[in-house]
Amino acid sequence: MSKEKFTIALDGVDPDKVPKKTLCTGEKIPSIGFGTFGSDHVSAEEVAEAVRGAISVGYRLIDCAAVYGNEHAIGEVLQEVMQAGIKREELWIVSKLWNDMHGEGDVLIACAKTLKDLKLEYLDLYLVHWPFPNTHPPGCDVNYRDPSARPYIHEEFMKTWRQMERLVKAGLVRHIGTSNMTIPKLKLLLRDAEIKPVCNEMELHPHFQQPELFKFLIDNGITPIGFCPLGSPNRPERDRTPEDTVVLEDPVIVKIAQNHNVHPAVVCLKWAVQRGQIPIPFSTKREHYLSNIKGVVEDPLTEEEMKEIEAIDKNCRLIKGQVFLWPGAKDWRDLWDEDGEIAT
Ligand SMILES: NC(=O)c1ccc[n+]([C@@H]2O[C@H](COP(=O)([O-])OP(=O)(O)OC[C@H]3O[C@@H](n4cnc5c(N)ncnc54)[C@H](OP(=O)(O)O)[C@@H]3O)[C@@H](O)[C@H]2O)c1
Repeated sequence: MSKEKFTIALDGVDPDKVPKKTLCTGEKIPSIGFGTFGSDHVSAEEVAEAVRGAISVGYRLIDCAAVYGNEHAIGEVLQEVMQAGIKREELWIVSKLWNDMHGEGDVLIACAKTLKDLKLEYLDLYLVHWPFPNTHPPGCDVNYRDPSARPYIHEEFMKTWRQMERLVKAGLVRHIGTSNMTIPKLKLLLRDAEIKPVCNEMELHPHFQQPELFKFLIDNGITPIGFCPLGSPNRPERDRTPEDTVVLEDPVIVKIAQNHNVHPAVVCLKWAVQRGQIPIPFSTKREHYLSNIKGVVEDPLTEEEMKEIEAIDKNCRLIKGQVFLWPGAKDWRDLWDEDGEIAT
């Protein structure tokens, strides 16, 4: 990792100029964040270095997760930037509970480990990464199956959620939320939660707009955070199928990018922020992460361009989650309750 002293980049974006969204609690959150999943091929140190660069150019929301295996390295960077003068309250640090820590007593242990690794006293947002306790080893292929995998069981999920609520009450996390949820699962959670999820993290890009779930979230005061906002061009092999489309090569995105003189990635991010989700793009390249954040503070898309992008939705889910399937499940669609019922 670079040993140069952390400084605010002169060519970056003033974090105060980055649009904010208001959560249902009234709390403000930056409208763009920075991803930290190295897709099994970018080292923890490289990801941490990218986080350091991202904070220097104006990102304040960092999307972490225990399973990414790099929170210890990101923690070093967070400590360094705070020693350099960035206040803890200026940062929005998200992390996620991994699937093997849903059990009774495990959530506090998992959160404490994440806090220790990130060198923080609290998280701004803690998400349940997946609504199943089904796991996979790092770097596994698409055919891996957890022998003890099971479908969504609401009573089990609520036991995990009660522990998430206790973290809020204990002051270890400021907000809690979900990830990879569906409407029927969220309806049960909203019915039974004492502390409601403020955000749901989900795959969102112009080829996978999830209009129904998106509307459900907005109607219920839950802010959508969009992962793979660029269609995750470097995602792991296990998350690739021949049917997958490439959003960055979509002719509509390419044409709009030419009109604005930016990379197609920047168009995807402008669209995301203007539509109302919080995109969390990842990059290890400074020119990329700098242009990504610049893109959301200048030269917005027109209403016409927003409509053109709305029309290119291909319902193309990239992160299908096959490795989380349980014995007896038909195929990956069972993870996503496509017929409106929770698959068993
Ligand atoms: N909750 C969940 O289950 C879940 C699932 C998946 C992801 N996530 C989160 O979402 C984040 C984002 O998803 P992702 O990393 O899979 O995909 P992504 O952000 O859609 O795509 C990242 C890739 O795009 C490239 N890129 C970034 N900016 C670019 C630009 N301006 N021009 C050209 N290429 C550009 C990057 O390559 P270079 O490094 O070469 O720029 C990087 O490999 C993750 O890092 C993670 O934090 C969460």
